Amino acid sequence: MTAVQYNPSLPAVQADPYPLYKRLREEDPVHWSEALDAWVLTRYDDVVAVLRDSRFSADRSRARNRLAREAMAAAEEYGSLAARANTMLTSDPPEHTRMRLLISKAFLPHAVEKLRPHIQEIADELLDDLQEPGCLDILMDFAYPLPVIVIAELMGVPTEHRAQFKRWSDDVVATLGGAYNAPDLLERGAQSARALADYFRDVIADRRRQPKEDLVSVLVAGADQGGVLSEEQLVATCVVALIAGSETTRNLIGNGMLALLRNPAQQEKLWADPSLVETAVEELLRYAGPVQATARIPTEDVEIGGQAVKEGQVVFTMIAAANRDPDHFPDPEKLDISRQPNHHVAFGSGIHSCLGQPLARLEAQIAFSTLARRIPNPWLATDDVEWGPSFILRGLKSLPITFDA
Ligand code: HEM
Repeated sequence: MTAVQYNPSLPAVQADPYPLYKRLREEDPVHWSEALDAWVLTRYDDVVAVLRDSRFSADRSRARNRLAREAMAAAEEYGSLAARANTMLTSDPPEHTRMRLLISKAFLPHAVEKLRPHIQEIADELLDDLQEPGCLDILMDFAYPLPVIVIAELMGVPTEHRAQFKRWSDDVVATLGGAYNAPDLLERGAQSARALADYFRDVIADRRRQPKEDLVSVLVAGADQGGVLSEEQLVATCVVALIAGSETTRNLIGNGMLALLRNPAQQEKLWADPSLVETAVEELLRYAGPVQATARIPTEDVEIGGQAVKEGQVVFTMIAAANRDPDHFPDPEKLDISRQPNHHVAFGSGIHSCLGQPLARLEAQIAFSTLARRIPNPWLATDDVEWGPSFILRGLKSLPITFDA
């Protein structure tokens, strides 16, 4: 048997990475990937241990691998360095603690819960607007617009700009983790990162002149009064909030719907009883989560599972693989929308665990319960689904379905 290798650019791995995660977990759980020039961890305990270990930094500029160098060179060449400034996602305490405190108020569960009726309204309107009875592209007609409208409203930017946001965000997301062997993706990603940064520079200038009740105004106040964010960090934080707030939830709805369509008994169970939506969303996060991986950089030489990992080497913690570890989930390859307990790590673990969790959960619960109510007998309208290029953020390009109109 040949030694297992993790190369996420292979079409078979893009189509379905889970069999490879299983082999890696069983045969080489602390794996050196030649393709990524980085370590790849697939066991739940290793992933959680690294995400909770202060010897591992979230600051990607410490990375010494080839892909990180290429991404940095592209950012310099195309003037998108501002969009790469350290944000909460990529900084360590004490800087991280200050930034997180500033932004967290906007995402507390009680603040988010107030959005419920409005999010429900948006979900219903999107389904009211369908052009052709009985046909729906889950991604383009529903899963993408829903979260991007919500985050744009929270940030105080016009929701009509969402087609433009999508193009820019898709380009940036395609390069997360490094766009190996794809200089064209890297170039487009850097250009779009710059466009997003320029867009938010204008919004920021506007809020300085005239503060409003929105997230950008909160961030501007934090930067100007508390000095919590530098100007570059302010810009980069807006970019990250837009992308984190829209691309992830979109892909949870898209990947989750595909998982249900491929497991019709589970889909029918949820459609028959939408009160199962809370456990169903947790299971879809575990089974088909959009964030496959995140990365950390050791600040000193460390040992993981008997392997010597050097300071500056990139360590990918594969949270999607951890979420199917049989040591933590009985029958892990099975989709079970009533699964309980379900201690998945789809939102990460430790100090960087997702700040948008309450919002993401609320949006996904509303999305699936609305689909269950309004889209009877859904059916996949294609044999080939096409996945986007990122191995960090896994998502479909489209998901056409038919249903009983
Ligand atoms: C299904 C949807 C989502 C998933 C699966 C998800 C997943 C994650 C994960 C895995 C992390 C940790 C990254 C790391 O450790 O390096 C994270 C962090 C974060 N997420 Fe989410 N996310 C989702 C939705 C959202 C939404 C809707 C928002 C905002 C509106 C958001 C904002 C953030 C922020 C700001 C962080 C950084 C927190 C920090 O560094 O302290 N996310 N998310």
